[in-house]
Amino acid sequence: MRQFPHTRLRRLRAVPALRELVLETRLSARDFIYPIFVVEQPESAGAVASMPGVERQTLDSLPGMIERVAERRISAVMLFGIPRRKDAGASQAWAAEGVIVRAIERARRAAGTAVAVIADVCLCEYTDHGHCGILRQERIDNDATLEILAKASAAYAQAGADVVAPSGMMDGMVGAIRGALDAAGRTDTSILSYAVKYASAFYGPFRDAAECAPKHGDRRSHQMDPGNAREALAEVELDIAEGADMVMVKPAMPYLDVVRCVREAHSSVPIAAYQVSGEYSMIKAASAKGWIDERRAAMEALTGIKRAGADAILTYYALEAAEWLIA
Ligand code: PBG
Repeated sequence: MRQFPHTRLRRLRAVPALRELVLETRLSARDFIYPIFVVEQPESAGAVASMPGVERQTLDSLPGMIERVAERRISAVMLFGIPRRKDAGASQAWAAEGVIVRAIERARRAAGTAVAVIADVCLCEYTDHGHCGILRQERIDNDATLEILAKASAAYAQAGADVVAPSGMMDGMVGAIRGALDAAGRTDTSILSYAVKYASAFYGPFRDAAECAPKHGDRRSHQMDPGNAREALAEVELDIAEGADMVMVKPAMPYLDVVRCVREAHSSVPIAAYQVSGEYSMIKAASAKGWIDERRAAMEALTGIKRAGADAILTYYALEAAEWLIA
């Protein structure tokens, strides 16, 4: 090891051009996936109080939003549907006239080949009890839920989704979905599995935006315990074996070590990390109080996620960050 005074690491930090030259991690709008909430009832559209800067879209405003995403050269959108009617069987998750299927169709037309359309696949926005699956005596019936997830995924692929992204942490969900896609002749539809999703307090603001808080209980019977990392590798292995094309770790910032673990254990699978609603809203809230510099804090958080090993980043900052990257 060379030592001081021979080695002076400050030399390459002396001027901006040199710092740029040796920069190891460079964010690009191409890394981003922008999550979009689409409401069925136009009266419910507009600002989300707990997520400043996020606006819920209607089916009619969605194409305009997709154009903004395309103009900023963001690679993809992740669509979440919020139906007018919810029921125990989550029928609006797959109904042909349901909000999410129609949103995918409209997004597909607006996106062309410029933006990839990803559809979140979970039942919590569509069930009247807010749980991520079909309940049997207060517990989620894993295998009964798989049938609905499979049906919904096939409908989303049919509607034009390039990628379906199951987020419900049901065992066997990727296999069930891959089977349904193949059976529907959709062998080219990708699966981005929320393989490693923790039972996190950082989803709080999202549950307002997506109206999907469980009416009773919590999600700890299927989402992972924050203390576990080896288990994350088991989840990823299973999902890859079942046919996932890409895997996600979520949330991002409290789990950057997990992103790195997955990256090292699976050198070839693309990894996405989700900077979730709580991560976003914390930066928004602290900067609104003048406690941190929003732009620098947001870019630092996103850079950290990429440096940890994520290829793609889901972020509500996508539009703003894309502008900051060219400004
Ligand atoms: C479930 C889902 C959730 C998020 C994405 N998909 C919420 C949950 O599991 O409770 C959270 C995203 C965020 O907080 O930004 N459909």
